[in-house]
Amino acid sequence: MFKKILLVALAIVVLLVVVIIVAVNTSYDTNYNETYAISDLKVEADSTMIARGKYLAHGPAHCSHCHAPFSEFQKIEAGEDVALSGGFGLEIPPGAFYAPNLTSDKETGIGNLSDGQLYRMFRYNINHQGSAVFDFMPFINMADEDIYSIIAYLRSLEPVKRESRRSEPSFLGKAIMMSGAIQPGKPDEPILKSMTPSVSKEYGEYLAYAVANCRGCHTNRDMQTLEYIGEEYAGGLAFGPDNLTQGDIYVTPNLTPHEGTGIMATWSEEKFIERMKAGRVHATSPMPWGAFGQMSDDDLKAIYLFLKSLEPVNNDVGEIHTPAES
Ligand code: HEC
Ligand code: HEC
Repeated sequence: MFKKILLVALAIVVLLVVVIIVAVNTSYDTNYNETYAISDLKVEADSTMIARGKYLAHGPAHCSHCHAPFSEFQKIEAGEDVALSGGFGLEIPPGAFYAPNLTSDKETGIGNLSDGQLYRMFRYNINHQGSAVFDFMPFINMADEDIYSIIAYLRSLEPVKRESRRSEPSFLGKAIMMSGAIQPGKPDEPILKSMTPSVSKEYGEYLAYAVANCRGCHTNRDMQTLEYIGEEYAGGLAFGPDNLTQGDIYVTPNLTPHEGTGIMATWSEEKFIERMKAGRVHATSPMPWGAFGQMSDDDLKAIYLFLKSLEPVNNDVGEIHTPAES
């Protein structure tokens, strides 16, 4: 009798697990094509916009860091021009994510995507098919004019035929998506129309918050849901071990001017600019040093002013770099 009950209970558990697996695999992907309709935007490109888009893509917005072939990594780090023909495969517990070919090739690139589809991707993190994507590209608060400039620049790229691998969430990734954690981006309202570059703390905040993602990496987050759980810019977010860090672990430093725990307490403007331009010290650090090295002195000064203006936050993040045990 007891054995029988146990068997029945076991059968129920197995059945439940199967039902959950089937449910997650078949319904994790919500389609947002109706709630976030694609606009009929047509970006009127001119050479100023293309130049601005190029600067953003290879500098502060660091598209090159993820969308250029991994074999070109040394060139990106050295500040050379690279084709955005697809690269970056990050293999983490929620899945394998590949940054696709962004050239105008119609088959393997984005030649067939409309300006409206691209705009929706940057503003709401919804891809051309209508799925919300993991928060790799935190551009939802970028000004319209900068998004248009980036689109204008992407359109100007010579087509390169290079197949990109499709991103594939793991079971865990699908479960996270199904739990509702991966939602379309919610940009701050009203949507910023334009932002004029200047050496000011306001412009520095715009770069750090909406373009260069200093905030996204230098604030502690729950890595399952990507929710912000730490004080902004106070560091403490851990990366790795994964395929890109080659087993190393990194923790982002505290960028607030707190005496004792924040690096901005003691860094002068010269030291900050020099460091940002000097490139990586740690070979496998996730920080896009190569792209940031392309930033203008004025943009770096603005970011410096902004970071210096932050409330000091007492947050000792401990070891920044722990090498893989070999
Ligand atoms: C941290 C890495 C990273 C950065 C930086 C990044 N991307 Fe991506 N991008 C990705 C990944 C990964 C995907 C694939 C996401 C997926 O399929 O779930 C992607 C997808 C895309 C897509 C495809 C959308 C679609 O509809 O299929 C476009 C377009 C794109 N990125 C453009 C850009 C541009 C332009 C920039 C710079 C302004 C940029 N990305 C910066 C990682 C990045
Ligand atoms: C993709 C994640 C990521 C982004 C985006 C990012 N950082 Fe970092 N940052 C790191 C990590 C990890 C480290 C520690 C390892 C290292 O020094 O490379 C770091 C280190 C630093 C350091 C200390 C370097 C040193 O030598 O002590 C500074 C300064 C810094 N980041 C500033 C910034 C600023 C400013 C931005 C935005 C313009 C930014 N970071 C964007 C991940 C990131």
